[in-house]
Amino acid sequence: MSCGFAITTAVRNTTICGLTVTMLMNASFAGTSTESQSIETRANDLLERMTLAEKIGQMSQLNVGDSYIHDYLAAAIRDGRVGSVLNVVDVDVVNELQRIAVEETRLGIPLIVGRDVIHGFKTVMPIPLGQAATWNPDLVRAGARVAAREAATTGVNWTFAPMIDISRDARWGRIAESLGEDPYLTSVLGAAMVEGFQGDHLSAADTIAACAKHFVGYGASESGRDYATTNIPENELRNVYLRPFKAAVDAGVSTLMTSFSDLDGVPATANEFLVRDVLRGEWGFDGFVVSDWDSVRQLQIHGLTANDRESAYEAATAGVDMEMHGDAFINNLENLVSDGRLDVALVDAAVASILRVKFRLGLFEDPYTDPASLPAIANAEALETARKAALQSVVLLKNDHHALPLSIDELTSIAVIGPLADAPYEQLGTWIFDGDRELSITPMHAIHSLAGDKLDVRYLRAMETSRSRKSDAFDEAATIAAGSDAVVLFLGEESILSGEAHSRADISLPGAQTELVQRIRATGKPVIAVILAGRPLTLTNIVDDVDAILFAWHPGTMGGPAIADLLFGIESPSGKLPATFPRMVGQIPIYYNQKNTGKPPAPDTIVHIDDIDPHAPQLSLGMTAFHLDAGYTPLFAFGHGLSYAAFNYENLQISDSELQLGESLTVSVDITNTSAVAADEVVQLYIRDLVGNVTRPVRELKGFKRVRLLPSQKITVDFELHSDDLAFYGRDMQLITEPGEFHVWVGSSSETELRAEFHVLSVDGD
Ligand code: NOJ
Repeated sequence: MSCGFAITTAVRNTTICGLTVTMLMNASFAGTSTESQSIETRANDLLERMTLAEKIGQMSQLNVGDSYIHDYLAAAIRDGRVGSVLNVVDVDVVNELQRIAVEETRLGIPLIVGRDVIHGFKTVMPIPLGQAATWNPDLVRAGARVAAREAATTGVNWTFAPMIDISRDARWGRIAESLGEDPYLTSVLGAAMVEGFQGDHLSAADTIAACAKHFVGYGASESGRDYATTNIPENELRNVYLRPFKAAVDAGVSTLMTSFSDLDGVPATANEFLVRDVLRGEWGFDGFVVSDWDSVRQLQIHGLTANDRESAYEAATAGVDMEMHGDAFINNLENLVSDGRLDVALVDAAVASILRVKFRLGLFEDPYTDPASLPAIANAEALETARKAALQSVVLLKNDHHALPLSIDELTSIAVIGPLADAPYEQLGTWIFDGDRELSITPMHAIHSLAGDKLDVRYLRAMETSRSRKSDAFDEAATIAAGSDAVVLFLGEESILSGEAHSRADISLPGAQTELVQRIRATGKPVIAVILAGRPLTLTNIVDDVDAILFAWHPGTMGGPAIADLLFGIESPSGKLPATFPRMVGQIPIYYNQKNTGKPPAPDTIVHIDDIDPHAPQLSLGMTAFHLDAGYTPLFAFGHGLSYAAFNYENLQISDSELQLGESLTVSVDITNTSAVAADEVVQLYIRDLVGNVTRPVRELKGFKRVRLLPSQKITVDFELHSDDLAFYGRDMQLITEPGEFHVWVGSSSETELRAEFHVLSVDGD
């Protein structure tokens, strides 16, 4: 025996959840390693003692689903044919599966237990896109901590999150799960989520391994149709889509998941360039890579392979270490190795990566879960984190004539109308397998609690679902509205309309909602729209018919109290858009950090389709990059979000007009709260590299800070900008910062005009 560990002799009895577990301390589980024995040594030692079949077992994940410990699963684990399970959240069952794995298998290797804990477990945070609207990494990290703690009570030790696919197409249903369109914002918040799930010590009982997904390019699915083909040139891939994954790897993410999608002709699950060259080779990632659900076998459906054997070969060769729910690996890898087709070294590397993560999770020391040792589900801290996240995620898109906040003292009645005012399940959004709708506090409930004593609150659902086309209840809605001092309309999309395989080609308000808005508008009462949705919507049809819009995404468990506090001015809105809102679906993809083109549009070069001169049609057209019917600007820009306060930005300063490579400069700005309202503001810094060896975006976010300003308070906000922050991948795909002229803007959205300039010097000092 080459190992330094004790061999199977010790027996330990422990009681967990009333289950007496006899722990046979076999070689790997006992792990009598001293501190000095590194995980690497332990993983390699174990690997040396594994049969090929046991190794391939580690590379296979089984879906437990509802079929808990049926004979097949128990036998498969016992035979060493399973390294991981997913979709089991009953702690007694998980403990029993672990017991079988550590006591009844030859080497006693514990299971890694996966689950989609995407934006909360029982306590649900806003959808990730909503969390991105907080622009608050600390809060995003705290939300993931809550999710990890709650999930860990069930024995789950691995989540399939964060989803950090750059998403520039709001038709794509999975934009809800993303952190939006921007590589920098997604990188910062994605890293925060990784830190939140994984905590300071992955081996702690309340932390779980994270999984950055979907590697890579899934968000660029053609026409926003889920699973559709993606075509991303390598330069764009490196400068945009790969960046958040690099940040997640730098943050210590334990695992990555390959995408379902076909990238440039090679599906991600078979893409050696992505997994071996970039992820392992360039970035040195040493965790493991899991396929997406059955995506190994889907290589055949893509038309890349002729059968499961070839699919297993392609995926393993590309660097996929574990197959999620599928049997291509388990049925074919052994045979591929024994036939001499697949080098066993590839299998060894995959298994070492999986074992490394299992060791880091501390599973060999203790694979069992005692929920009593973990914080209670939905405790006060969890609910407060969810409330704060919801509060900071809501974006005030418009607020004409200070329609908001509503004054409890000045009003006597309000009408609360719409299908999403009192819909505890819908407010949770997509991917909430374990979310507890009983915990949801709806806006209707919260409005009653907050203002019910002082105001007559008149509620009508008016539509059965957000998709309903019936308008039978609209007369009654109009009557209630006409008899009230103000109307709050709860509109948007129910949760089923976004998420995986839930893409839409028309992203305006579904069903008869536009008609409902018009009927309420006709009453002449102030109309506030609160929109709950899983994606940016085209709101062009209703934007002029409402006085204010609070865009609340799917805000999660505590959405109601957060929205009520915002409606009545207890708190001021502070969310900022993490994705551009188009005027029309035909503008998609529309995003702020686009390239300039050779013919950039400007207000004086565009002509509307209705204004084309019938006598000289050609002459009237400006020859620039715009749509005749939509212009070129979005309805609401990236970074946009109003406040009840008013902030004045001035005095933009740069510590030096020249920046040496390898050094930093400080960009500072003065901000004054010129209102009588205390509020948070998200200060955003953008740059433009004016000349590059590949064309550069017209603006790029490079920094942001959430600050709080009291009435009349003036503060100075500083940003450190290092020359490395300006780096991009050039024509030769190397990361470089090029000397030359740069613009820098600081302000409250991507449209800010407050600008300064600096010059990056070459090594020769030019
Ligand atoms: C498929 C999804 O694409 C992925 O994101 C998810 O984690 C797995 N199914 C497991 O549910």
